[in-house]
Amino acid sequence: MITETAFAKLNLYLEVTGKRPDGYHELVSVMQTVSLADTLTFRACDGEAARLLGDVPGLPADGHNLVIRAANAFFTAYGRSFGVEITLHKVIPAAAGLGGGSADAAATLRALNRMADCPFSPDILREIALSVGADVPFLVEGGTALCRGIGERITPAENHASGAFVVAIRGEGVSTPEAFAALDRLFAGYDGYLPRQNPAALLEMLAQGEPCHPFPPLYNSFEEVILPCHPDARALKQTLLNHGAVAALMSGSGPAVFGWFETEDRAQQVAERLVLQGARAFVCHAV
Ligand code: C5P
Repeated sequence: MITETAFAKLNLYLEVTGKRPDGYHELVSVMQTVSLADTLTFRACDGEAARLLGDVPGLPADGHNLVIRAANAFFTAYGRSFGVEITLHKVIPAAAGLGGGSADAAATLRALNRMADCPFSPDILREIALSVGADVPFLVEGGTALCRGIGERITPAENHASGAFVVAIRGEGVSTPEAFAALDRLFAGYDGYLPRQNPAALLEMLAQGEPCHPFPPLYNSFEEVILPCHPDARALKQTLLNHGAVAALMSGSGPAVFGWFETEDRAQQVAERLVLQGARAFVCHAV
């Protein structure tokens, strides 16, 4: 039996800069995997297909599930399939902007590669990952990276910054395609779009490992279209800031938000407070 940990991602920086003819969006993002994670186990079995065991609330068990899509993409690239039973212990909130489904897909690719005696290098695994989703290539190895293109042009980055994150969510999930459509309307097709920010200062701060810069320069384009219609996310972000986060931001297309705290103790206190107020909140750190 093989176990894989599927780490969630936070976008410490995310700027959508254009739309491609195929409908996908060009972006610039600083991605960071964090210790908030799902766990997947993989057991070889008879047959020639991947099966997801048990019901995971809110997730389809058929081919629409990213785990099954990843397994099928792996089998296609490998040229043959084998029987595997997969169990998924879900912790990462779904439709939250935390890359949970993509992380599960990436974990599946890693596991099947191990089960098949590693026919694919990490580069090839990332190519297979891209056929499953735009965030999946980064999540094959995770860590800290500047991601461009639709997320697949990955430049690893250093992160020596300390501190802990509180990831918090309350209310309805967000549909990523709808969030992109709202940005398209806001930026009228990105004609003549001029970058509003750039990630250089953040990357420098992470590389220097300044233990929580006074104002880590975080940015997310999606906040402009999601926060106005998600009062819960807006309120959570404000609460994080009011309770000592040195910075707070929505992750991905939301509605999960995260706060960056100087110490794990402080993060723990704030997470407990948010849970008492009815939110889901998790303390985690960069991995
Ligand atoms: O690639 P993934 O399936 O995770 O993306 C979900 C949806 O988000 C896509 O169907 C697409 O509509 C949108 N998307 C995009 N540009 C990206 C990433 C995702 O338009 N770079």
